[in-house]
Amino acid sequence: MDWGMKNRMAQLIQSDGRCLFLPIDHGYFQGPTRRLEKPGETIEPLLSYCDALFVTRGVLRSSIDPGNARPIILRVSGGTSMVGKDLANEGITTSMEEAIRLNVAAVGISIFVGTDYEHESLLNLSKLVDEGEKYGIPVMAVTAVGKEMEKRDARYLALCCRIAAELGARVVKTYWCEDFEKVTGGCPVPVVMAGGPQVDTELEVFEFVSDGIKKGAVGVNLGRNVWQNDFPVAMIKALRAIIHENATPKEAQELFNSQKSGKQ
Ligand code: 5RP
Repeated sequence: MDWGMKNRMAQLIQSDGRCLFLPIDHGYFQGPTRRLEKPGETIEPLLSYCDALFVTRGVLRSSIDPGNARPIILRVSGGTSMVGKDLANEGITTSMEEAIRLNVAAVGISIFVGTDYEHESLLNLSKLVDEGEKYGIPVMAVTAVGKEMEKRDARYLALCCRIAAELGARVVKTYWCEDFEKVTGGCPVPVVMAGGPQVDTELEVFEFVSDGIKKGAVGVNLGRNVWQNDFPVAMIKALRAIIHENATPKEAQELFNSQKSGKQ
């Protein structure tokens, strides 16, 4: 691995081998999602607690202070919407030249395995990897499920993650699921977990993140369960404790409760 690629990977995955990425890219197909209507305001209190931000170029330029940013993973796939025909029909939306101009640490693209657009999305990943490798920019592949949340099982996600790694992704983002060790065990590059739609309790999030880390994930790329929570700062601090300090779900919950009530 060349110096530039190594340096960018080190910006993403911290010296303890773990990472907390904060995605705020949802608007690229969901529009002004709840509590992300003004991304600059949502992100401001959270920024210092994340290791990297997953964001599109539009929100990056309009809403993030270049003098006070975190490493950027630039979302470079899209071209679909919640009201369109098929969320899987994504293309590459942003050039590598633009990614370099924005001084990003990585670029991110979704793949849609098992859909009508599997072939296109996998070739898009491959092309992006070719470009990224030329300039030392890692590619994070997002194993997207569109609206079909029930697809999140170990067999399917292990297949998606392995294919993403085979095509050259340096990091793979997927969902936590039962038997998560089957997903990480078949993927030769670091795996991070997304959260999906907001779940009922904070403890559920702490439990799956902790389980996923124990079973080989290096961290999270987790958005809605942080910034849609009523106490997003307490939430991200509790997740940091699990990821970077090996806190148990119970300890994370206690930290969340104390932060929420303003106690240290
Ligand atoms: C959406 C994404 C998000 O980055 C990913 O789903 C993580 O966010 P969340 O935890 O809210 O699911 O790829 O386009």
